[in-house]
Amino acid sequence: MAHNPARISTLISQEKVESRLKDLGEMISRDYEGKEINLVCVLKGGSYFMIELAKYITVPVKMDFMQVSSYGSATKSSGNIKIIKDVDEPMTGRDVLIVEDIIDSGRTLSCLEALFKDRKPATLKIATLLDKPERREVDVKVDYVGFTIPDAFVVGCGLDYAQNYRNLPYVGVVEFE
Ligand code: IMP
Ligand code: MG
Repeated sequence: MAHNPARISTLISQEKVESRLKDLGEMISRDYEGKEINLVCVLKGGSYFMIELAKYITVPVKMDFMQVSSYGSATKSSGNIKIIKDVDEPMTGRDVLIVEDIIDSGRTLSCLEALFKDRKPATLKIATLLDKPERREVDVKVDYVGFTIPDAFVVGCGLDYAQNYRNLPYVGVVEFE
């Protein structure tokens, strides 16, 4: 089915995204020196960021995937999450790094954080490609942020609008008509 041709203006160029991911990968590799990182991707949006970031991580890495859905409307999350797909491996005693596309209200991540803490990982950190602090409703401590952005609806680098545009190698703002 064809999607509405919305105008998308570049907010963060491909070059800037790639250079930031390289820096973050190097920072994470230093922080986890001598450890193995269990990356937990929050599907679907976190997939692009996890894969691109992992290219620059030099310590051993495992990858796992989780999918949650929030009850509520499409562009706003309710904070009440439902697990659609859980991770395959037990996370107890491991160094877990949750990888998200964007933190908006913070509700999804605060639920996920509580869920993972119960599983007693050795360490638990959060990485997000984008952060919209103006929209925060629930406090979450984020350890690695790619970019802090203003309150706009963005797509690309894993983020979608009605499941489209996740493949764009840059971050763009959707201009609704
Ligand atoms: P939170 O629970 O409000 O922090 O919601 C985070 C989730 O909402 C993200 O993982 C995205 O799936 C979605 N989201 C929030 N802002 C945007 C956006 O600007 N573009 C695309 N998806 C977004
Ligand atoms: Mg998401």
